[in-house]
Amino acid sequence: MMELCVALDLPTKKENLDLIEKIKDFDVWLKVGLRTYIRDGESFLLEIKKINPDFKIFLDLKLYDIPNTMADAAESIMGLGVDMFNLHASAGKRAMSEVMKRLESYPTRPIVLAVTALTSFSEEEFREVYESDISSKADQFAKDAMDSGLDGVVCSAFESRSIKNITGKEFKTLSPGIRPFGEDAGDQKRVADIAFAKGSLVDFIVVGRPIYRSKNPEKVIKKILEKL
Ligand code: C5P
Repeated sequence: MMELCVALDLPTKKENLDLIEKIKDFDVWLKVGLRTYIRDGESFLLEIKKINPDFKIFLDLKLYDIPNTMADAAESIMGLGVDMFNLHASAGKRAMSEVMKRLESYPTRPIVLAVTALTSFSEEEFREVYESDISSKADQFAKDAMDSGLDGVVCSAFESRSIKNITGKEFKTLSPGIRPFGEDAGDQKRVADIAFAKGSLVDFIVVGRPIYRSKNPEKVIKKILEKL
C-alpha cells in the first residue's frame, strides 16, 4: 500500500509542532527538510518522537558531495535514529556505494533513497543542467542507485512506472509534487494526483502545501488516507 509523508515545511518550529500535534494519531511519515533541520536540528526530531514515538521520520537533506564526505554525513545521520534519508544520484555511483558500504556495519539502517530529477524541473530546465530528457535520465539514475545498493529513488509520479519496470517491484519510489485532489501546483512542475500516483506504483507520496496550508489539515490527511 502507498504511504503518506507529510512535509514539515512551515516557517517556524512552533507551527510545525502544532501541525504534528494535530495529526499525531494518523499513520503517516513526517518529512523533515532542509529549512527545518538547519534551524531546529536534532532536538526537533526528539520532540517529534515525544509527541508520538511511532511517527516515522524521513530526513530530506539530499546529500551531494564527494564520496567520503557523503559517507561521513550518512554515518552522522545514523546517530539521529531517522527511518529514511536521501542523497543525489548525480553524486555518482562511487559516492552512493561508499555511503551504503559505510552503513553495512550497522545491524539496522534507514531506507536510503536517491533523488533523480527534482519535481520542480521543467523539461527545458532539466536539459540545461543534465543535457538529457527527464525520463531517460531518471531511469539511468534509478539503475545506478540500485546497482549501488540503495533502496529506491525520489522521482515524480510520471517517472515511477518506468523506473519500476527497470528495477523491479521491491525498489521503492517516493514522489513529491503530489496535489492529492488537483490543488494549486505552486512551484512544482511535474504534479500528479493520488489516483495517478497509485496507478504508477508509487510507494510513498510527499504532500506539503495542500496539507499545511489547509485550515483543516486533519481533514485533508483523512481524505488522502482513505484514497491510498
Ligand atoms: O508543498 P509541496 O507538496 O510541493 O512539498 C513537496 C516537498 O517535497 C518539499 O518539501 C520539497 O522540498 C520536497 N521535494 C520535492 N522534489 C523532490 C524532492 C523533495 O518537491 N525531488
